[in-house]
Amino acid sequence: MSTYDLIVIGGGPGGYVAAIRAAQLGLSVACVEGRGALGGTCLNVGCIPSKALLTSSSKYAALAGLAAHGIAVEGASLDLGAMMARKDKTVADLTKGIGFLFKKNGVDLIEGWASIPAPGQVRVGEQSYTARNILIATGSEPTPLPGVDIDEQDVLSSTGALALEEVPQHLVVIGAGVIGLELGQVWSRLGAKVTVIEYLDRILPGIDGEIAKLSQRALAKRGLKFQLGRALKTVEKGETGLTLTVERVGKDKEELIEADKVLVAIGRRPVTRGLGLEELGVSINARGFIEVDERFSTSVPGVYAIGDCVPGPMLAHKAEEDGVACVEMLAGQSAHVDYGKVPGVVYTDPEVASVGLTEEALKEAGTEYISGKFAFMANSRARATGETDGAVKVLARPDGRILGAHICGAHAGDLIAELVLAMTKDATLAEVAQTCHAHPALGEAVKEACLDALGRAIHA
Ligand code: NAI
Repeated sequence: MSTYDLIVIGGGPGGYVAAIRAAQLGLSVACVEGRGALGGTCLNVGCIPSKALLTSSSKYAALAGLAAHGIAVEGASLDLGAMMARKDKTVADLTKGIGFLFKKNGVDLIEGWASIPAPGQVRVGEQSYTARNILIATGSEPTPLPGVDIDEQDVLSSTGALALEEVPQHLVVIGAGVIGLELGQVWSRLGAKVTVIEYLDRILPGIDGEIAKLSQRALAKRGLKFQLGRALKTVEKGETGLTLTVERVGKDKEELIEADKVLVAIGRRPVTRGLGLEELGVSINARGFIEVDERFSTSVPGVYAIGDCVPGPMLAHKAEEDGVACVEMLAGQSAHVDYGKVPGVVYTDPEVASVGLTEEALKEAGTEYISGKFAFMANSRARATGETDGAVKVLARPDGRILGAHICGAHAGDLIAELVLAMTKDATLAEVAQTCHAHPALGEAVKEACLDALGRAIHA
């Protein structure tokens, strides 16, 4: 029977990064993965393939705007098979890369589905292993909608929506969250009519309301149709396609929508089944997440959990931070993850990026704050590139310490990094504004938003 200092269950961004870091710290480590490929949901059927398709589809959509630059394009056509093959190759190359990193760092890969029959023991198929520590990094899966069967042919989760063989005529997306908007925009750019049905009266819950409105306006301008305050009730398959029954929330009224594909993107739920956690006595909360303390320890000594299967934002980079902090503490170091400063990015066009508290949260908590905003329309680089939708918004304590930053606009996912660093280092609005920003650059909008909060914006 093989014995390890640490066995990690799950080879996604949380698990594989934890395994590599633990090996770097001198622990003997194995990582168990049952999917047949490393990288988890993010690499195989999430972040990476969606970004590959977002990039390809944005290049296709950009062709339509080239005339304004004085460039005529004739005879452009879409080869969806080639686009999908590129996406698959990107995924395959990255997956192999993790296998290489495991070898380089001496992490053993155990292929199969693991269970934990007792503390310190891991079972994979017929094989048993012992471990001083076990780290659960089993991630999450799409939340099903009661009464709606996902067959990945016509009724899709994100997995099916990343692998369609034809552009649908009418794709209905259920849920105006991150997945719904990203994948909705992919298929809209490739020629589908896309209707987004959202339960709430706004898109992107959790994102600052003002910024979410800017995003909705920009996405609508690019072709997405929004139907807010509606919930999907049933999907019926007929000879010519799907008929959706949609309820107007709070209005006792139903509507019928015809579609050829439906993407259900109403959130994700933690994966904990099959591990034997109940028998082991690991505490799970009412929403199905594994409960952990600040050391990522579950209620069973020697069993730890990180990433999407524990409470907190379901983001790959948060899982990585969890994983590294957990194993560094196991190796006797001190570590800490500041969940108030985890950025989130929606990779639509325009992008949406956010860190810290929203204006709604500050109002609800009765926190005193000042705010500043700067629209990309007034940024010279954005004008030159033609990417003028959106704005930067900063929220700070009256003494200038930043509480939250929210951006809708081109490259928002990159621009947010400056404000994450500022918050991490407790820099003030004035300190960000005093920092020399290159001209002409989109980053000047960050500086101007900070100046605006101080009543000193130059270009607004
Ligand atoms: P989400 O939680 O972001 O959005 C789901 C939306 O569905 C919400 O707006 C909700 O109000 C709505 N909804 C729920 N039930 C509904 C119903 N019956 N009818 C109509 N609307 C309904 O969930 P999503 O988009 O599925 O993403 C899941 C997770 O994956 C998120 O936690 C997200 O952070 C993560 N993710 C992150 C990405 C990124 O960082 N770029 C990309 C993709 C996913």
